[in-house]
Amino acid sequence: MLKSIKKGIALLLSSALVFALAGCGGAAGGKRIIRISHSQSETHPQHLGLVEFEKYVESKLGDKYDVQIFPNELLGPSVKAIELVQTGAIDFAIASTGNLETFDNIYQVFSIPYLFDSVEAYHKVMEDKELMNSIYKSTAAAGFEAVTWFDAGTRNFYAKTPIKTPEDLKGKKIRVQQSPTNVKMMQAFGAAAAPMSFGEVYTAIQSGVIDGAENNELALTNNKHGEVAKYYTYNQHQMVPDLLIGNLKFLNGLSPEERQVFDEAAELATKVEREQWSVATNKAIEQAKEMGVQFIETDVQAFKQKVLPLHKELLSENPKLKPIYDSIQKVNDEVKEMK
Ligand code: GCU
Repeated sequence: MLKSIKKGIALLLSSALVFALAGCGGAAGGKRIIRISHSQSETHPQHLGLVEFEKYVESKLGDKYDVQIFPNELLGPSVKAIELVQTGAIDFAIASTGNLETFDNIYQVFSIPYLFDSVEAYHKVMEDKELMNSIYKSTAAAGFEAVTWFDAGTRNFYAKTPIKTPEDLKGKKIRVQQSPTNVKMMQAFGAAAAPMSFGEVYTAIQSGVIDGAENNELALTNNKHGEVAKYYTYNQHQMVPDLLIGNLKFLNGLSPEERQVFDEAAELATKVEREQWSVATNKAIEQAKEMGVQFIETDVQAFKQKVLPLHKELLSENPKLKPIYDSIQKVNDEVKEMK
């Protein structure tokens, strides 16, 4: 882990080196270097999942590949990292479907607010290999393909002042991911949307450029946003997954046996990340409380009513979304019936 940080810092100091290395195929000591970028700290469940990915690939194909993980946006903010995967300058990145949506609009579907009725339905959909593979494999034109998903919890508002009802959002400037759908959502909520990268959020809240943001609980602690925003409201507007995307040329250049190893490694990374997720979330809530963050329960329906018209609007704007949306509604109903 320390190794990867040091390597990351060294590369950061000379960003030209990143491209020089990538340009020559990233070979070191005869091994092909596999670079993976993500935005989280090294204690985050996603990093822990990727460490298992690294170990697994190297245990099976270690004579050929050297997997290197770059956390904390060391290779650049998420949108930049997606571009690096597109061009093949790096091989993999973890990206939120929010940030992927401008690269392929199929990913708009997960930005639809209140798309999933429950966490169970969300997990069931994400674990539906047939449905998800059809989505993952549909983005060849963008130069990448997703290989697995990671839980990123439920997104809620947090701000410098309490948001207890949708009316409290009026006149507020709230950060969203670089996603047109999220901008629309924020406007429908009655707030002004401020799209920016994840790494900029802390300073933007601290300096008063924005009033707040929206994310899962880990943002309060892992990214320290709880130091500058003390009110977290459980309005539950989205469950937006993160995906591990890989450069298409790289993936297609693997032999079937190698591809299988990478797929198994990806599956293992997801398993580990998901096992860690609820543990990490509960810990984050406790830590955030110690930081003085107040958690506010609210009338979710009141928030939902504000943005429900977006479902129809987004589906008619992008017909590609409809079949996936319908499959998700079916899962919503199935889960409801089981309860
Ligand atoms: C979550 C998510 C990240 C995303 C971030 C954001 O932390 O896991 O992938 O980039 O939210 O809001 O930008």
